[in-house]
Amino acid sequence: ANRRKIALIGAGNIGGELAALIARKELGDVVLFDIPQKTDFAKGKALDLEQNGAVLGYDASIKGTSSWADCAGADVLIVTAGIPRKPGQSRDDLVATNLPIIRSVADGAKEHCPNALVIVISNPIDAMVYEFKRRTGFPRERVLGMAGVLDSARFQLFLAREANVSVKDVRAMVLGGHGDDMVPIPSACTINGVRATELISKEKLDALIARTRKGGGEIVQLMGTSAYYAPASSAVAMAESYLLDQKRLLPVAAYLDGEYGYKDIFMGVPVILGGKGIEKIVELPLTAEEKEMLAKSAKSVQGITDVVKASS
Ligand code: APR
Repeated sequence: ANRRKIALIGAGNIGGELAALIARKELGDVVLFDIPQKTDFAKGKALDLEQNGAVLGYDASIKGTSSWADCAGADVLIVTAGIPRKPGQSRDDLVATNLPIIRSVADGAKEHCPNALVIVISNPIDAMVYEFKRRTGFPRERVLGMAGVLDSARFQLFLAREANVSVKDVRAMVLGGHGDDMVPIPSACTINGVRATELISKEKLDALIARTRKGGGEIVQLMGTSAYYAPASSAVAMAESYLLDQKRLLPVAAYLDGEYGYKDIFMGVPVILGGKGIEKIVELPLTAEEKEMLAKSAKSVQGITDVVKASS
């Protein structure tokens, strides 16, 4: 078949927005999977989104289901199964609930979608994607966590507002784990090629970095649940780069095997994402300060990854 198939595991807030974006971009046909509930809400959402296509004029089949068999042969699998944060919770607080969920998703994926590129969004992302890879044995080129694109988007917005320029011209890069000690890289921030440090003082930049680190929590505090528009479009950018072999350079949580000095851990690093999945991990020359921040972030990620490993 010429049409690509994208299976979304979890049909909640992020899953629904993922389906809407993928359909509008006509990246392929969508399967919206969720566990059986009081109502058949995944089927309802799928039907609503198909009808939306009659108004907006997109051509995509969107099927709601609770059966893994419907996901068979997917080209891309995006995992949002699990609970989101509530105000006051850290991402790591979700591990006890989300660990058995990611394990059941890994088992379904291994049986029905052995050739898919997998993007994990469920939190705590770095540990959940680690467990997914460990349990499925999928090659590291095809197992990714979505965090860096979102964290970078948050940083870009704050930079644009501070410099009073269009967000379209701002590029930024956030590496490390998807936690409060993530590592925004000031030397990689540019406003249409101009170093952001030329337009924003060090003091202001430090404040934007602090806000970026707590960017997820800020939204949880306001909404009572976690963000979903920007997380969904971040994962779609990753899926699109794979499906269309765009070879974009994006920060993603990737399995490290010595890169940046880390082994057997998932962490946010810049990668080239193309038709083969992760085609290259790009090793940036980091300053001593950036290296130190990355080490701190790696320590937190290792801690939560060890929790996951110990319970297997
Ligand atoms: N298989 C498939 N789906 C599942 C499973 C499972 N085993 N267990 C739970 N789900 C579903 C829930 O039924 C729910 O519909 O996952 C969905 C999650 O949707 P929301 O609660 O709306 O959460 P969302 O905002 O989409 O976030 C999902 O991504 O960013 C992270 O922290 C966030 O871990 C959370 C995840």
